[in-house]
Amino acid sequence: MKILLGITGGIAAYKSAALVRALKKRGDEVRVVMTAGATEFITPLTLQVLSENSVGTDLFDPTFESQIGHIDLARWPDVILVAPATANFIARYANGFCDDLLTTVLAASTSPVLIAPAMNTQMLLKERTQRNIETLRMDGVKIIAPDSGELACKEVGAGRLPDSPILLDAVDAIFFAPILEGKKILIAAGPTREFLDPARFLSNPSTGKMGYALAKEALNFGARVTLVSGPSALPKPSGITFISVLTTEDMFIALTQQAPQNDVIVMAAAPADWKAEVQLEQKEAKVEGEKIVRFVRTKDILKHLGEHKSDSSPFLVGFAAESHDLLERGKAKRIRKKCDALIANQIGGKNNAFGSDDNQGFVICEDEVVELERDTKTQIARRIWNILVDKL
Ligand code: CTP
Repeated sequence: MKILLGITGGIAAYKSAALVRALKKRGDEVRVVMTAGATEFITPLTLQVLSENSVGTDLFDPTFESQIGHIDLARWPDVILVAPATANFIARYANGFCDDLLTTVLAASTSPVLIAPAMNTQMLLKERTQRNIETLRMDGVKIIAPDSGELACKEVGAGRLPDSPILLDAVDAIFFAPILEGKKILIAAGPTREFLDPARFLSNPSTGKMGYALAKEALNFGARVTLVSGPSALPKPSGITFISVLTTEDMFIALTQQAPQNDVIVMAAAPADWKAEVQLEQKEAKVEGEKIVRFVRTKDILKHLGEHKSDSSPFLVGFAAESHDLLERGKAKRIRKKCDALIANQIGGKNNAFGSDDNQGFVICEDEVVELERDTKTQIARRIWNILVDKL
C-alpha cells in the first residue's frame, strides 16, 4: 500500500519514527510530509532514512518540488494518514486552509484520509476542537479515537496518540467492505497446556498467528469478534472481546458458553489432545531412569460442537493440521467432525504452518474446495473470509 504520512507539531510526533518503521516492515511504501511545527519535535532526516524517501516540509521548496511536485504527491497515495494531528492542524484543515505543504496536498488529493488527533485533554475537549473534528468527519475524513492515559503534560485523560498497531489497523480498515457486518464470530486460537505438575506441561508449537489473523480480519470486515486464546506471545488485538484460557478443558468451557451468542465459530486453535491422568499439585523431583506417565484424552471440542449442532447453531469452521495427504485427510476430517467448512493446512516440512508468518492449503466446504496459495496469514485470513461469507 502507498501511504502518505502527515506529521504535525505535537510531542507525539516522536512516535512517527516507530510508525514509519512498522509500515515499512510490513511492505508499505511511505512518503512523509511534515509541518514546520513537526520538525521541532523530530528531524526530517530521521523520517527520510526510515521511509527511504525524501521528506516534504515546505510548499515552496524547489528541490522537493523537482523530485515530486505537490500535485503528483497528492495523486500518489492509496491513503493519507495524519498522525499526530494537532488542534491547530485540525482547525486549518477543517476550514479549508492551504497554507503549507500538508494542507495543500490534502486539498489536492482524492485519496481517503485518516487523522489521529493527539493533544492535551482540555484542548481536545474544547468545543471548537470538537466542532472542527466533527466537520472533518462529516466531510468523510476518518477520525482515529485518541487513547486515554497519562499525557506528556502530566494530565490524565483522552488525547494520547494510539500506538502504531492501532493506527495500522485503522488504515487497513478503510479498505474493507463491511461484508461481515452484523455477524458475531467466535474464534479459538493458539495451543493449550496440560500440566503434569506445576513445572511441566504437554503442548504443541502453535503460536496463534492464524487464529489472531482471522480475528483481526473479521473485525476489519465489520464483524463483532470474540477470541478465545490459549497461551500466545502475540499482542491482544484491539477492538475484540478477548478470553484467555490455559487447558483444553478451559477452552471447551469458554467456547461452549460463548457458542449460542455467535453466528460463526472458527476452531483455529491447537488444543492438546491428551492430558496427564494425574496432575500433581507439587513439583515432582526427577529420579534417575525412565519415567512413565499415563495420558488420557482431552475433549475434542470441534467434534463436540459438530455433534451438538442444530438448525440454530453457529456455522462451524474447523481446521486440519496435516503432515501428509492434506486434501484427502481434510475432506475426511470435515465429515468426521461434522463441520460446515474446514481449512486444511500443512504441518511439518518446508511449508510448516506452525509458527510461520505464511500459510497455504484448502478451504473445504460441502459443495466446493478452494485452494489457498501460499501467502501471509493476514492475506490468507482475508481470503478465507471472502470465501466463507457466501456460505454463511
Ligand atoms: N480440535 C479440537 N479439540 C481437540 C483437538 C483438536 O477442537 N482436542 C480441533 C482443532 O482446533 C481443529 C480440528 O479439531 O479445528 C482438527 O485438529 P487436528 O489437530 O488437525 O486433528 P485432530 O482432531 O487432533 O485429529 P488427528 O490427530 O486424528 O489428526
